[in-house]
Formats: sequence, structure tokens, C-alpha cells
Amino acid sequence: MGDPLNDQAETLAALRQVIDAAGPYLDGLPERLVYDRAAEPLLGELSGPLPERGSGTQATVETLLRIGTATATASSGPRFYHFVIGGSTPAALAADWVVSLLDQNAFVRASSRFADAVETVTLQWLRELVGLPPGWGGALTASATFANLTGLALARHWWAERHGVDVTSVGLAGLPRMPVFSGGYVHPSARKAMQMLGHGKDTVEVFTGDDVGRVDLSAVRRRLRALDRAPAVLIATAGEPNAGDFDPLADLADLAEEFGAWMHIDAAFGLFAALSPRTAYLTAGIERANSIAADAHKWLNVPYESGFALVREPDRLGSAFGMPGAAYLPGPDDPRGGYGLLGPESSRRARALPIWATLAAYGRTGYRELVERHCDLAAHLAATVDAAPDLERLAEVPLNVVCFRYRPAHLTEPELDEVNLRLGEMLLDDGRVFAGTTVYRGRSALRPAISNWRTTAADLDLLVEVVRELGAIAASAR
Ligand SMILES: Cc1ncc(COP(=O)(O)O)c(C=O)c1O
Repeated sequence: MGDPLNDQAETLAALRQVIDAAGPYLDGLPERLVYDRAAEPLLGELSGPLPERGSGTQATVETLLRIGTATATASSGPRFYHFVIGGSTPAALAADWVVSLLDQNAFVRASSRFADAVETVTLQWLRELVGLPPGWGGALTASATFANLTGLALARHWWAERHGVDVTSVGLAGLPRMPVFSGGYVHPSARKAMQMLGHGKDTVEVFTGDDVGRVDLSAVRRRLRALDRAPAVLIATAGEPNAGDFDPLADLADLAEEFGAWMHIDAAFGLFAALSPRTAYLTAGIERANSIAADAHKWLNVPYESGFALVREPDRLGSAFGMPGAAYLPGPDDPRGGYGLLGPESSRRARALPIWATLAAYGRTGYRELVERHCDLAAHLAATVDAAPDLERLAEVPLNVVCFRYRPAHLTEPELDEVNLRLGEMLLDDGRVFAGTTVYRGRSALRPAISNWRTTAADLDLLVEVVRELGAIAASAR
């Protein structure tokens, strides 16, 4: 079995193998361990020498499914609260399979009119979903990191233009350092985007007045004033992962307007607060930004990889990302052009399909209800934490993240830090529920984020039960 041409009849049989495995896997998600360490030795079966003659489609798919369904992290299930990870809605998951079935290159219209048409509608729907006015455009990206890169690349393009330089053509040499300001909530992903763009991750000047990271607006204002109207970039964060807090977007937009700065918002998961009248106050002012980065693979519950950038002046996308001409390629303004010339990637999968499908299937109301349900679940978790004598909540819960720690009586602060860090490790080894640790106001803490459509109150009660059980062991092991 070497040449796949001899294997053509196997395609449908292989897909059937996948669908046969899908049923038990999905049915098991609500109850299975998030990670089963006992299955880990199976990973060894993946290695070995590159096969000289392959083992054929059926045997290979069987091996992959057997190892994958046993060793995968059930991060698409209801008990995974680490990082901020959404699941996959039924429509999004099915559409993601369609992406592979059709195997479109969503580079330009010349490579797929279908992918281009879906992407156009999808970007429009995302814009409408979060309440941005007509005229905004965007780019679908692999992640929020690439969406941050997209927004900040446009900021850089604008900033260099203000200095009379076409940075797309001649690069940064000869320009001063681009002034970039933020509060303490700035996410490493935005810094990574800065580093990828050649500005350096440490050039972001952070202005915070407290131990949480809230932005110090007066300090930002002073710094902007000192620039004497030279162009600058503000990075705001809408939804930080420690406690789900937001920078004051409208205040930052006021500053951006007053000093003529570019405002970029990293709203990887927080953007979806805009969907509910209960939480929309948190995103008030997003329409005054120049660029916004977000993820569909977080709260929209679309499979990886799925991010998006929304931008106020879409024409800048072609200027920043259009590829230098080659005789066989369309340009950004060519009717045969398309989104591969308007963002960081060129050849790309048709990642609009799952977003389009999930929005078509559940609509604005479905997503508003999802966001509200998750906020209610976060409030339920917060109340459960508050009622437990050995748990302590460390932050308000404006959205879907609950920051708390295990706090039995009679432990000193350093001991509590040690116990909570150990507890974090134990949770990941135990596998019944997943939550990660952070440092909040100098204290080690857990910060479960609720963003999976399958999660129920019972799942969160289990989280509390397991945290208390393992916390007691961690404390007694001191
Ligand atoms: C605020 C914020 N920005 C950016 C990111 C990075 O997202 P991604 O991993 O999709 O690049 C995250 C991830 O949690 C985030 O919370």
C-alpha cells in the first residue's frame, strides 16, 4: 500500500471510521476524564521510523482514532476551564468537517468563489453580531494572536504613513520607535504580535496604578501629551483572563480621539460581552476603536483555528497585506483577488464555514443566551465559592471567569501560595476537571473560565468538590 491512488475506494470507508468513533467520543465528553494519564503510554505508538511502505488508510485511521480518542484532552467538553477554550457547537463541528471535505483554498476568488462568498457574509455577520457599524471590514485569522498582529500591522501602517513612509514597501528602517501604550491587562499575545512585527515585545509602555493591572488613564494622558501630537498606538484589553475584567474602553477612546492615536482592542473572548444587554456596558466604546482582535474558537465555540480582526478602515488591509505582484497572482484590488491578500496568511483553509454555520444555526439570540448562561454559571460558581469555608474569591466576576483560591484556616500567605500552586498541578494530574493557576494581586489562585456550551451547574459543582478534596490533600502534604 504505497500510492494512495491504489487506495481511492478507501476514502468513504475512512470517513465512516471517523463517524463511528465520533458517536462514542461525543457521548462520553460530559462524563469522561478531561485528561486520562493512564492512557498516556499510547502516545509512544505514534513514533517509530518513517514507514517505508505505509500501512494503508484504514489501519492508519484506526490507529489515530484509537490513540486520539483515548489521549486527547477533552477541552471541547464541559469540565475544561483552563485558559479560555470554547467547545464546538454541533453546526460548527459539522461545518469544520465540510471544510476538509471541500478542501478549498480560501486564498482568493480565483481559488474559491465559494470560500470567498462565505467569508464575506461571515465577516458581515460578526460585525453585526457585536454591534459595529456598516463600513467596518475584517480578516479571518488563525487565532487572536494573528488578529492582534493584523490590527497592529494596520496601526503600524497608519503610524508610518503619518511619518510619510510606506512601511509595506520600505520597512521600518529610519523611523523612530513606534510609541505603544497600554494598561497592565495587555495580553502576552499582543506583545507577541509586536515582536513578530519587528517592534519588540518590550516596547509596549505599560501604565498601571495598582496591583491588579488596571490602566492608569492619567499616566497615559501625560505620556500622550508629551508626544506633542506625534502618532501613537493604544492597546486596550476587553476581557483579561485572570478575572474577566475590562479596560475602560470609552475612556481610552476619548484619549485616542483627543490625541489622534490609533486604538487597538484585544477582545479575544471579551468581545462577546457585547451580545447581552446585561454585559454590553463592558464593551461600550468598541465602535470607536480602529481595530479589534477576537477569537471564534473561544466563546463562539468554533473548532480551532479560528480568530478574526475587525477594522474600521478595511482598505488598509490590502495596503498592509497585499502581496508583491507575481504575474500569475491577482492583486488586492483585482476582481479575482480575495482575503488571502487582506491578512497575514496566503493559502488558508475555508475557516469561515464553521463560523457561518454556527451563526446561521443559532443566530444572535442563541449566542446571547449562551453568553448569559455562562455568566449565570460564573455567578453560581462565585456563590458556591463564597459559601465554602475553605475557599476565598479574589475578584469580582463581571463576565465568565471566577478567580479564587483554596484557603484553609491557619496557613500563612506563602503557605497558601505553595498549596494553591500544588493544587493546580494536582488538578491537571487528576483529570476530572481542568483549571489553571495564575497570580492575582500577588496571590496564587485558580481562574476557571466558563466558555463551553456543554457546561452545566453540576459540572461546576464538581469543580468545587474536586478543588476542596485535592486542596485538603495539598495542604496536609505540607
Ligand atoms: C485577551 C487575550 N488575547 C489574546 C489571546 C490569545 O488567543 P490565541 O491563543 O487564540 O492567539 C488570549 C487567549 O486566551 C486572550 O485571553
